[in-house]
Amino acid sequence: MGLFDRHAALAERYRTARQAGIDPVGVEMQRVLSPTEAIINGKRTILVGTNNYLGLTFDKSCIDAAVAATIAEGTGTTGSRIANGSYSEHEALERELAQFFGFRHCMVFSTGFQANVGTIATLVGEGDYLVIDADSHASIYDACKMTAATIIRFRHNDPTDLDKRLRRLGDAPGNKLVVVEGVYSMLGDKAPLKEICAVTKKHGAYLLVDEAHSLGVCGEKGRGMVEEDGILDQVDFIVGTFSKTLGAVGGYAVSNHPDFDLLRVTTRPYMFTASLPPSIIASVRQALRVVQARPELRQKLWHNVNTLYDGFANAGFTLGPEKGPVVAVHLPDVDTGLAVWKALLDNGIYVNLAVPPATPNSTVLLRCSICAAHSDEQLAHVVDVLSGIAQELGVLPREPLRAAAAG
Ligand SMILES: Cc1ncc(COP(=O)(O)O)c(C=O)c1O
Repeated sequence: MGLFDRHAALAERYRTARQAGIDPVGVEMQRVLSPTEAIINGKRTILVGTNNYLGLTFDKSCIDAAVAATIAEGTGTTGSRIANGSYSEHEALERELAQFFGFRHCMVFSTGFQANVGTIATLVGEGDYLVIDADSHASIYDACKMTAATIIRFRHNDPTDLDKRLRRLGDAPGNKLVVVEGVYSMLGDKAPLKEICAVTKKHGAYLLVDEAHSLGVCGEKGRGMVEEDGILDQVDFIVGTFSKTLGAVGGYAVSNHPDFDLLRVTTRPYMFTASLPPSIIASVRQALRVVQARPELRQKLWHNVNTLYDGFANAGFTLGPEKGPVVAVHLPDVDTGLAVWKALLDNGIYVNLAVPPATPNSTVLLRCSICAAHSDEQLAHVVDVLSGIAQELGVLPREPLRAAAAG
């Protein structure tokens, strides 16, 4: 058997799609013009698939901070913090993040993926239990592969099922760590954190919340779903990323646990990888200030979420269960998904196509992520174009639903 033979079925499907000129995983952004536009295939294209929730990638103050840090301290750190030392800015960012959440400790990682894998797989080991939501991100599933703890999955966003599974463990020795996301990345739905936290605490388990899609998006001060659901003082660990709202790359974990800093000498994805460069740390520090100083960006984001979600719903699409920074449109099958995705791109609109096994319940999704910088006109155009394509391909009836109902 050849090295890649086990991927033969996938390779064949990928080859067929590419031969038809459809390559959702190989899109080249020839030039990114702003948080909401890029040149793709030589065409000016509206970006609705970037996770750039507040549009901070082009924020002048963040760019200036990154440029100044590069000039002052160079392009990279060229090593890990335990072997090659921390820059003062790494430590400053950790203090600022801890303060932002009101926690004692913070660790910065080189990606959000590493923050999840590193933290989760180090916190629990042999004899412990890692209890995760079934719709968890790949980084949480990879953490499961890297720990000797027993893995238990509970039904997505179902505190009753979590309760049942924790009850079954009874007084079994070993620590129990429950891991959920604040906002789920595929459907944009929020976790019922208050209920999940109550169940977790009732059974003496620890709670870790991945706020990758909720930092700067949810909560009065942008501190995520833990703030929105009022559990900031009860959650044990918050993990997140700099690659979405904060417009850069990197990840973090915060906690009040007195021994949290031990992770610095036990977590391999922190210890054995180069630390973030000065430019990234500087732009993230500035982006965190912008999140706190400009709540109007969050309000604009939610205005845009309402506009796109309501626009799609009125057009007759089946959507994710609730409004969130990700608006997911259900499509009937992979072939239709590929056709709709390609037609959108040909019409100057870029979204993400999500297919099994990356999606919950093997659904096919057009995953649209909203940006505070989208204009009403851009979003209305996206609704119009997708509706036209969906009618053309038989996903929606030819007559607009409301007109059909009236007739
Ligand atoms: C829920 C969730 N957690 C973690 C990550 C990883 O973040 P990063 O891009 O910083 O590696 C992502 C990114 O897609 C995510 O959606």
